Amino acid sequence: MLRKISLLVMLVMLVGIVAACAAPADTPADSDTAAPAAESEAAASDAPVVGIVLPTKDEPRWIQDETRFQELLATENVPVEILFSQGDSAKEKTNVESLLTKGVQVVILTPQDGAAAAASAQAAREAGAKVIAYDRLILGTDAVDYYVTFDSVAVGEAQGQYLVDKAAGSDNPLYLYAGASSDNNAFLFFEGAWNVLQPKIADGTFVIKNSSEAVALQDKAELTRDEMASIVGQVTTNWDFNIAKSLAEANLTVATAADKGDVFILAPNDGTSRSLADAFAADADVTSYVITGQDAEKASIQYIIDGKQSMTVLKDVRTLSADAIAAAMAYINGGTPEETATYNNGAIDVPAKPSAVVTVDQDNVQATIIDSGYWPASDFTGLE
Ligand code: BGC
Repeated sequence: MLRKISLLVMLVMLVGIVAACAAPADTPADSDTAAPAAESEAAASDAPVVGIVLPTKDEPRWIQDETRFQELLATENVPVEILFSQGDSAKEKTNVESLLTKGVQVVILTPQDGAAAAASAQAAREAGAKVIAYDRLILGTDAVDYYVTFDSVAVGEAQGQYLVDKAAGSDNPLYLYAGASSDNNAFLFFEGAWNVLQPKIADGTFVIKNSSEAVALQDKAELTRDEMASIVGQVTTNWDFNIAKSLAEANLTVATAADKGDVFILAPNDGTSRSLADAFAADADVTSYVITGQDAEKASIQYIIDGKQSMTVLKDVRTLSADAIAAAMAYINGGTPEETATYNNGAIDVPAKPSAVVTVDQDNVQATIIDSGYWPASDFTGLE
């Protein structure tokens, strides 16, 4: 057994070296196959050991992950193939199946739809591959081996806390927005935000302006999944910039001038935050707004510098991608990745390693984003 494993390790290293030598410096931006090893003509390039399936190239967040994986793999010598599902669960399943056909030993998957992805996880289990849920949990199956993630409840709490810290007095108009109902994270973010905001709604600091479902539940400190689903269903952006924009416009159309003024907006992530911010900024009755976000996308860092978005939550994708590759290598080498928590996915408690998150606004953008090396200063204008 031991001999088998060490042979395997040697093979992995050898394949990695061959693949790394053959790797092109750059890959086409619109290519679905993005890992350095994947496009080589060499035999090794046809044999990824690890397959990564990310949700979409239409959101900068997931391009960040692709880039960080590529940076990491440039030094790791692991043959990896990265595929994108473009917001389509059926394409996601085909992607996983194609990687399994190529013989990957580990699938790292960010599901488009947590429940629908159970079938892909089961297919991987049947093929003998380990399954690592990446950032978003795969739901309702025992075929998930590990979950690398950020502390998503803490993300929501950071967003809620930011709004609370910026609000003075009472009756501050509050507009709530959420992510996609098919994404378990949307619930964790909302749960975190609600933990912090609900007491401040109950004491009159905030008044919810755009969700009758949230108003109906505003005296409840802890919401059930179904209760959260009723609110999320009413204020979902589906993680889509255009839906976020039209939803905000619809909310602002029915709101009276008295519902506007100095407003507070819970925006679930950076992409939707920029759309929501633009819609609120365009309304003549909105005098000022405080708006949240997450992901530290470059465009949102610029919005923060320019005073158009109030904050973001930095989820350092360098850590997440490194944790995912470390977990994959642990499995390939016959071990088990580090477990610091578990997340129940409706079927089992999935071993996990959640990472900490950092609130970023104008006051600390230099330290958290530039000085930390997350993004170079030259990518932005107006930094002091
Ligand atoms: C991720 C966020 C991302 C959102 C939309 C969530 O599951 O955790 O970082 O902004 O999906 O893609």
